[in-house]
Formats: sequence, C-alpha cells, structure tokens
Amino acid sequence: MPSAVSQPVVAQLTRAAIFLVVTVNAGKESEVAVRGLCADLSSLLRAVGFRDLEGRLSCVMGFGSDAWDRLFGAPRPKDLHSFREIRGVHHAVSTPGDLLFHLRSTRMDLCFEIAAQIMSRLASAVTIVDEVHGFKYFDDRDLMGFVDGTENPVGEDAQRAAIIGEEDAPFAGGSYVIVQKYLHDLERWNEVPVEQQEDIIGRHKLSDIEQDDAAKAPYAHNVLTSIEDNGEQLQIVRDNMPFGEFGKGEFGTYFIGYARSPRRIEQMLENMFIGRPPGNYDRLLDFSRAVTGILFFVPSATFLDNVTPEMMSTAPEHVQSSEDPDIANTPPKPSSSRDGSLGIGSLKKR
Ligand code: HEM
Repeated sequence: MPSAVSQPVVAQLTRAAIFLVVTVNAGKESEVAVRGLCADLSSLLRAVGFRDLEGRLSCVMGFGSDAWDRLFGAPRPKDLHSFREIRGVHHAVSTPGDLLFHLRSTRMDLCFEIAAQIMSRLASAVTIVDEVHGFKYFDDRDLMGFVDGTENPVGEDAQRAAIIGEEDAPFAGGSYVIVQKYLHDLERWNEVPVEQQEDIIGRHKLSDIEQDDAAKAPYAHNVLTSIEDNGEQLQIVRDNMPFGEFGKGEFGTYFIGYARSPRRIEQMLENMFIGRPPGNYDRLLDFSRAVTGILFFVPSATFLDNVTPEMMSTAPEHVQSSEDPDIANTPPKPSSSRDGSLGIGSLKKR
C-alpha cells in the first residue's frame, strides 16, 4: 500500500517564518470554511511558492485536540490531547489554539503572502490568538546570542524523530507539534557572565562547540533536553525563531518542536520546568518565560488533500455511529488523493 505523503514538517531550516495560531469561531459555517481550506492548501502553496522557487516556501497546518473533534470526529490520532500545563520551579502554561499555520521561507514576503491567502480564505471563520513573525538572527543565533538548532536531526534521523509510523497506522505520515512563545529578560541575561551563560546552555557561545560532557552543569539545557529510551536517544525536530517588538518591549524565542509522539517533548519540558531530578531545572527559564503552550496534531498532506467541506456536517443523524447499518454497508468512497492510502473514505463517514 503506498504510504501517505507527510506535510513538510522536516523542511530545511529557513531564515523567515510566521507562526499563526487561531481558534475556530462558533457555528457549522466556520467548520465548513476551515475544512474547505484543507484540500486547497497545497494548491495555494504551489501558487505562492512558484513566484520564487528558491524561496522554499512551506506550510504546515496543525489541529488542536478540541478542534480535531469538531472538524473530523473519530477516529482521532491516538496521542492527541490538549497541552498539559506544568507547574514546577517554573510554569509552562497551556493556552488556547485550534489551528496552527507554520509558514517558512527564505523570504518573509512569501510567508506573508501565504498567510494573507490563508486568512482571506478563513476570514470570519477564525480568530487569531497569536501571531509571531520570526527571523533568524546573525549566524542562526537566538536573541540570547547562542546558535540555535545545531543538534537538530537531519535526513532520515529527522524523519524517524518526527513522522508517525506503524504505531498509529491510520495516521502514519502525521506528526505532533508543541509550540511555546518565550519572552526573554534580555537585560538580566546580558548581565550574566558569558561563562555562566555557556554553562546554562551547555555550549560555547562564540564557537557553538558543545562543552565536554564531564564539564557540563547538571542543569545545562542540552543535558536536560537529552532523553533516552532503552539507551536510544529520543530526538525531536526544532525550528525555533527569534522575534521582537520594541514598542511592546517584547523579545523572545518561538519554540516549535515536532515529534512522532508528544511524550518526547513533554518529557523534555518536565525536565526543564520541574527538573531532573526535581529541583535541577533549566536555568534558561530564569530568564525566559513561556507565555503560550499548545499541542497540535499535524496530519499527513494526503489526509488534508482528502478533506471535504461537508464531511462532518452532511446528514448529521446518519453519522453518529458505525453501528448504523447504512454506514456499515456503504463501502468507503474512492479517495481522490494521489494514493488514497489513508482510507479517508471511512474517516468521512463517521
Ligand atoms: C527559551 C527557549 C529556548 C531556547 C532559547 C533554546 C535554545 C537552545 C540552544 C541554544 C540549543 C543548543 C544548540 C542546538 O543544538 O540547537 C538548544 C538545544 C536543544 N533544545 Fe532548546 N531552547 C529553548 C527551548 C527548548 C524547549 C522548550 C525544548 C524542548 C521541549 C528544547 C529542546 C532542545 C533540544 C532537544 C536541544 C538539543 C540538545 C542536544 O542534543 O544537544 N529547547 N536549545
């Protein structure tokens, strides 16, 4: 059976990104509008991206737990739930968000144009709850001055880290993503001697070389975010972006992490916010406050291509249960996808 095509979760890192988080407004017509966008997203992206192919425009669309139920119902991705706040030494908040659009390109104008096209399609169906325009700072550094992204897995390792496989076969090709918007206290951070900053991150600031394991502080960021299962390192794919607004006095890092299971990212967050062992927390958080926190499921591109505007809203009395003989006896509709591998016909029927 041909496998589902993933959304561009594992895209090459770019210098510009827009992160749009929206909630879906009340009413069936809002849901119809969102579902209507899903299958058209790939053609919108082709149209905008074709204006400069070297701009490597990509778009990932994710769905929050409640939004999934509203828009698609059952079956649902097995590990999808709302982001769970963490109250440790520091607080990882859980904030609202139904849809995520992660727009990346080498050029901000391409990100801006695809955002404009998406928003003109969704118009009154959604409310924007967070919008961040991110940029890469010199040498791919964050605003704290450290190169961010060095140890990201690439190629097959990145696929293995981020893309769901047989563990949830109906949703193979999908991914999970957690986003958190962090605001930095740069004044205080810049007062910290560079050697201490390096101990907090676990890398040398100027050269970006990793500290020797023996020299790392137990609370170093790269110690607490290194997790294993049976001796195997569990990785995630990150594409953090700095952002800032002088008028608001807000400067920060937009954290975005993709993984084949949200548990990996949650484990890293627990290590950072509570500590491993508890109390040995990530000192980055003394200078960085998480003001958002949301978990989304990123279905495959094949899934999105097969969404129809009416799939949950037609014949509502008829779509309650697969016990319904009409439904049980109806073969799944032939899929209009390139490969039809996800059995979306059955998804549409429930
Ligand atoms: C204020 C927000 C954050 C900042 C400024 C930040 C910055 C950095 C920097 C500078 C590095 C070292 C270079 C690299 O390998 O990329 C790093 C590594 C890493 N970060 Fe973060 N990070 C933040 C939040 C997070 C969060 C919330 C997670 C996970 C939940 C995370 C997971 C990781 C991982 C897995 C690594 C690689 C560790 C390794 O294997 O060496 N980071 N981060």
